[in-house]
Amino acid sequence: MCGVVGYVGPRQAGPILLDGLQRLEYRGYDSAGLAIHNGSGMSLHKVVGRVQRLRELLDADPVPGSSGIGHTRWATHGRPTEENAHPHLDCDGEIALVHNGIIENADQLRSRLTPGGHSFRTETDSEILAHLIEDATGSTLEERVARALPHVEGTYGLAVVSRSEPGKIVVARKGSPILLGLGDGEYFVASDAAAILEHTRSVIYLDDGDIAAVTMAGYSIVDGYAQVQDRIVSDIDWELGTVELGWAPHYMLKEIFEQPETVLSTLRGRLRPDEGTARLHGLNLSAAQAAAIERVVIVACGTSWHAGLIGRQVIEQLAALPVQVEYASEYRYQPQLALPNTLTVGISQSGETADTLEAMRAARRAGSRVVGIVNVVGSTIAREADGGIYLHAGPEIGVASTKAFTSQITALLLLGLHLAHARGVPTDEGRELVREMLEIPARIEQVLRLNTRIRDIARIYADAGNFLYLGRGVNFPVALEGSLKLKEISYIHAEGYPAAEMKHGPIALIDENMPVVFVAPTDPVYQKVVSNIQEVKARGGRIIAVCTEGNDDLRALVDHQLWVPAVPPLLSPLVTVIPLQLLAYHIAVLRGCDVDRPRNLAKSVTVE
Ligand code: AGP
Repeated sequence: MCGVVGYVGPRQAGPILLDGLQRLEYRGYDSAGLAIHNGSGMSLHKVVGRVQRLRELLDADPVPGSSGIGHTRWATHGRPTEENAHPHLDCDGEIALVHNGIIENADQLRSRLTPGGHSFRTETDSEILAHLIEDATGSTLEERVARALPHVEGTYGLAVVSRSEPGKIVVARKGSPILLGLGDGEYFVASDAAAILEHTRSVIYLDDGDIAAVTMAGYSIVDGYAQVQDRIVSDIDWELGTVELGWAPHYMLKEIFEQPETVLSTLRGRLRPDEGTARLHGLNLSAAQAAAIERVVIVACGTSWHAGLIGRQVIEQLAALPVQVEYASEYRYQPQLALPNTLTVGISQSGETADTLEAMRAARRAGSRVVGIVNVVGSTIAREADGGIYLHAGPEIGVASTKAFTSQITALLLLGLHLAHARGVPTDEGRELVREMLEIPARIEQVLRLNTRIRDIARIYADAGNFLYLGRGVNFPVALEGSLKLKEISYIHAEGYPAAEMKHGPIALIDENMPVVFVAPTDPVYQKVVSNIQEVKARGGRIIAVCTEGNDDLRALVDHQLWVPAVPPLLSPLVTVIPLQLLAYHIAVLRGCDVDRPRNLAKSVTVE
């Protein structure tokens, strides 16, 4: 996904656009550009690489002008080159456009426009939009945009300016987020609020099909039927500080250390200790509807899918409901069984992941009720779902998801308690669990004190070529998550497996060069994990074990022990995953990797 930002107002647009792009860089960071209107003409600047390079360019040669648009890119069509960077122009540079999304029929449109004399400069799909608008008739830019977009198949969050209408930005949304920021005599457009929060907290989230024209005089919004719309103005409730790096060298480390607070804010106001349950009004599920649910389907991708695997065990154990967990990218193309009395839960930090969104839409078409567990307020999944649970974990900037994962697990525990209560499942276990959940933030604080020790262990293994992560029960998904974290930020090949599965193949990989991380808290399957540890030890594997405080049994068997506080088994992923996040972080730092902007990745994958 890419980042889009725009400004119209009395101030110089350059610095405002650059700051906004820097805050959106987690969305995509292989090239960047902007177009600024100085009242008589437009100047365009594009670079390959980071926004910082664009800033250096403008510092060296400032660009005057009080309106403009900017873009930071995550390449989907066309290599990350200066030419392919946005903004894109029409034939004679009258129109400049930035786009987030995918134009699926770009080739057809290009071959339709070429005979009419249009010449294309880039390998991108997005460029076609500038030429379509150029080709459209209309007396205003917004009219031409409205006439051009019906030809487009695909998704877009776009912003466009024209030479002949200085001080105006037209934006449009279909499938990719765009919001308006309402300032004092000035206006902003952006892919998400992080880009403009330092200027205003008042935003309007555009709906799919909306087209808005913004000038210093104000804004107007029409929907897909050219009907004037009066959209709700929302207030952003999180602080700029949450998107500032502050004390931390990297957002990932900052977000790892935020987890005591973020888990607490996911819990805040939702636990009912006396009843041993959770109240989730946002789910928008009546007691009768909740009681009527016969099965749950969880759809998600990446780290969110790992949270889903834990969610299955939580909901099955607490609410005695059958749960299936599906890779959203696979599920969306599977033939949909009729799903009455089925609750489909889409888990997504960003709320914009295309595969998860489409899997939820497919489930709805098959008759399922669809709810979302989402972090980003106002995101597409949050707005399309029948109800949901917001994580309230604050913006997650590091591409490698950390605090969202523990908040997703917390939300799934709340959902399990809620469904158990609605289905009249006895609440004794619930009361115990609720009491323990209130202690989790303090438990996580304790685990974070292992940071230095984990950094020392990371020094030993930073040059490893491979890693194996093993766990059982609710800690098998934790092993998967630990291996994903290491893969995505250190580029070391790592695999997560159910510990017992190791004997059916991966054990062949074990020798003195293979570090093996065991997630081995004291729980009903602990003794089984100990046998697996012995099997690895017998083949000379180097073992790092995450185990429960006070458990010294493993001293002779493993190379490194990381003790975490004792918690009920269903809560253990909330403490056992933290050392794995820190291990991946420190190894990546020691290998000189760009921890917050790992290669080839984007914070949310809004394309298929
Ligand atoms: C996790 O660190 C990755 N960034 C990635 O796997 C991510 O979890 C996945 O793309 C899903 O994103 P979402 O939660 O925003 O839908």
